[in-house]
Amino acid sequence: MQRRFFLEQVGWGLSTILVPSILGCTRAKPKSKKLLVLGGTVFLGPAIVNAGIKAGFDITLFNRGISNPYLFPNVRLIKGDRTIGQKAYKDLINEDWDFVIDVWPEESYMVDDATNALKSYCKHYTFISSIAVYDHFQTVGLDENSKVFEPRSDKSKWEYYEEKVHAERLVRKRFPDSHTILRPGPIKGWRDSEMDLAYWLTRIKKGGKVLAPGNGNDPIQFIDVTDVGNFAIKCIARGLKGTYNTTGPRQKLIWKHFLEQCRNHYNPNAELVWVDETFLRQKGVQSMRDLPLWAPLSEDPGFMQISNAKAVAHGLEFTNIHKTFNDTMEWVEQTFKNKSENVDLFTNAISFEAEKEILNEYILFKKGQ
Ligand SMILES: NC(=O)c1ccc[n+]([C@@H]2O[C@H](COP(=O)([O-])OP(=O)(O)OC[C@H]3O[C@@H](n4cnc5c(N)ncnc54)[C@H](OP(=O)(O)O)[C@@H]3O)[C@@H](O)[C@H]2O)c1
Repeated sequence: MQRRFFLEQVGWGLSTILVPSILGCTRAKPKSKKLLVLGGTVFLGPAIVNAGIKAGFDITLFNRGISNPYLFPNVRLIKGDRTIGQKAYKDLINEDWDFVIDVWPEESYMVDDATNALKSYCKHYTFISSIAVYDHFQTVGLDENSKVFEPRSDKSKWEYYEEKVHAERLVRKRFPDSHTILRPGPIKGWRDSEMDLAYWLTRIKKGGKVLAPGNGNDPIQFIDVTDVGNFAIKCIARGLKGTYNTTGPRQKLIWKHFLEQCRNHYNPNAELVWVDETFLRQKGVQSMRDLPLWAPLSEDPGFMQISNAKAVAHGLEFTNIHKTFNDTMEWVEQTFKNKSENVDLFTNAISFEAEKEILNEYILFKKGQ
């Protein structure tokens, strides 16, 4: 259950250019398709907007104008607050939209209101969901047909994943033949504020003996934010409908190779000390929380092995992992200025002192064996 909380080419639309013909008159190219992005200015939103701009869509943003309002000075913004019900969308229904991409909400009532208000005014609706919707993570290779969690009858108790399941259902109901739903796994890269990948990169950079969890064979998945953004735009540009898991990397990645790549990238002198999972548990270390992104096979074997085969077959592409490392670290460094050398800024992760203590005990334990 805890796993789910964590997840809290273009065929048309090239810019309209007036092309002088050989006869000296001018001819206009077809008009760009109109894309309305609900949200768009925090993390995944900007990646979608940037991909949309590149692809030549005529983009309008809809948000309150509070988060990063200067991010897209040349993109039209219609302001509105989605907490106030269907009337929030009154300024959007004076025109027709080719596509809506609803990026951010986890509260399904907002999706309920938006799909209701916009259903007669837009041709296609994309919703960003999450792999958190799956019923359980005991199965390796969960795909888009795998069972999703059934939300409890008491809506007041709904968690993130129940809201997402319900939101998906609303989108399918209101746009039965014209929807796309993306289910990303952990998203990393530029503008990522989760501090989980950043924990490992910063820790490796700091060097010395680094507590590496388990035996190195546990799987890990994360996808670069630009890859999700590009795929969202590819879907509308190519008319790809239905549901797609958007997890990365392309192929299975295990912790041994992940941490070795971090080490090669940032600090070849860092020494990885693989600490037995049972030992970690005895010391009260909690997967995912104390050692971010670590979801051992023994707990939820499927959580970090979600199938991305369908999206890959439809053109999901992947950024080089080293670029994701760089973007993640640059964002952290920019956000926290000179503090990024201090692993302790990663409030949820194990402290440097606690890590050192566990490592010392483990080394003694191994010597005594
Ligand atoms: N991070 C992960 O690892 C991960 C994994 C799986 C799935 N996901 C999903 O990916 C998505 C990421 O979302 P994001 O935050 O990056 O989206 P985003 O679209 O970049 O940012 C959130 C947008 O919502 C707007 N907003 C906030 N409150 C609003 C309100 N009351 N009315 C209107 N607009 C409002 C914000 O602008 P204003 O504040 O100016 O209104 C902002 O533009 C989510 O759906 C998440 O569930 C994430």
